[in-house]
Amino acid sequence: MADKPEYIPGLAGVPAARSSVCLIDGSVGKLQYRGYPIEQLAEQCTYEETAHLLLFGELPTREQLETFEQELATRRKLKFRIVDVLKQLPESGHPMDALTAAVAGFGMFYPGDHVADLEFRRLSAVRLVAKLPTVVAAWHRIRRGDDPIPPRPDLGHAANFLYMLEGEEPDELAAKVMDVALTLHAEHSMNASTFTARVTASTLADPYAAVASAIGSLAGPLHGGANERVLAMLRTIDGSSPEAVRRWAEDRLARKEKIMGFGHRVYKVKDPRAVILQGLATQLFERYGATPIYDLAVELERQMSELVGHKGIAPNVDFYSGIVYEKLGIPVDLFTPVFAIARVSGWLAHLLEQLQDNRIFRPSQIWVGEADRTVPPIDAR
Ligand code: SDX
Repeated sequence: MADKPEYIPGLAGVPAARSSVCLIDGSVGKLQYRGYPIEQLAEQCTYEETAHLLLFGELPTREQLETFEQELATRRKLKFRIVDVLKQLPESGHPMDALTAAVAGFGMFYPGDHVADLEFRRLSAVRLVAKLPTVVAAWHRIRRGDDPIPPRPDLGHAANFLYMLEGEEPDELAAKVMDVALTLHAEHSMNASTFTARVTASTLADPYAAVASAIGSLAGPLHGGANERVLAMLRTIDGSSPEAVRRWAEDRLARKEKIMGFGHRVYKVKDPRAVILQGLATQLFERYGATPIYDLAVELERQMSELVGHKGIAPNVDFYSGIVYEKLGIPVDLFTPVFAIARVSGWLAHLLEQLQDNRIFRPSQIWVGEADRTVPPIDAR
């Protein structure tokens, strides 16, 4: 009899695709999008350039970039009936749920054949990248009873998002920091939400369904949802001395509770995105004043390194991002939606790759139940 296949919880280390989108070497903290180091992309490219790279495989020429930027800018608007959908949702609901609902709804407004019609497929991708920030900002205003602010086509992707939140054009530094943060979150190989997007895409469901399912997956606290929990967690630390922080961390580890923003399936060293985010936080502090909780975060990182660093547990992308977003004036429950706004280009890059050589995902299982039972009459159960 053939050997039974081994069960690997969480499919750890099991390849789910052949991909040329994102390369990670977690042992040394290396991250590249289509072969370009994240450090170079963050410093030299805008989010629009990065999205072009992810979606279409290459960095744009000046002319291609101009066309892509214009296409994104003209597609930012929402149909008024999508806005009406948002108005029907309870204001106490989480913005990730509002985003899932709106994106799932897009499929009804933009029907088409994304399997046979390659132009429709491309257009769907552009539409999704363009519209997600508008949905998040519109929902944020609608839930407060305010009118959504229409997007400004003359602003870049990141600056326009910040503008749509409160109607104030961000200064150059805030726009740049937001833009880099989006680039850092744009893609990360076969993470849970990307895998979700690929599984949905593999059924030939439309891109709106694939992205809606990915948003649902990103929302969980073990994945993108960790970013909004980090600040709340830091605020539960009683005192800021090294001793107080160590005591807090030791207690939590002893109770086997996860420390949000630490640990990663792939990285065994500090996430390179966390390093860049720390740099962005520092730039913001120099301009707008310090955030005391940042020092606490740095102390927690130091204590965690002594306590569990040897197990490869280090800060991940979610550890410092909230500190950056808070300084940009973004409300805490929009942190994960901001992750989605960025990650949509990565999800779509994977969807496009999946459709190029598609086979429906259909893994097997290992049966652990009882077999061949006979249904007893109801009175005999
Ligand atoms: C993201 O995959 C991606 O690429 C995701 C992402 C992306 O860009 O798409 O990078 C974004 O999701 C970042 C991760 C955000 N999540 C958190 O910050 C939540 C806290 N971290 C974790 O729960 C955990 O580290 C995961 C979910 C990120 C990874 O889970 P794994 O690989 O299944 O690891 P595990 O939970 O099995 O932990 C292995 C060991 C355990 O100890 P032992 O039982 O072996 O002694 O490490 C310990 C864990 O207890 N551990 C932690 C810990 N993370 C791992 N202990 C305390 N705090 C933590 N955060």
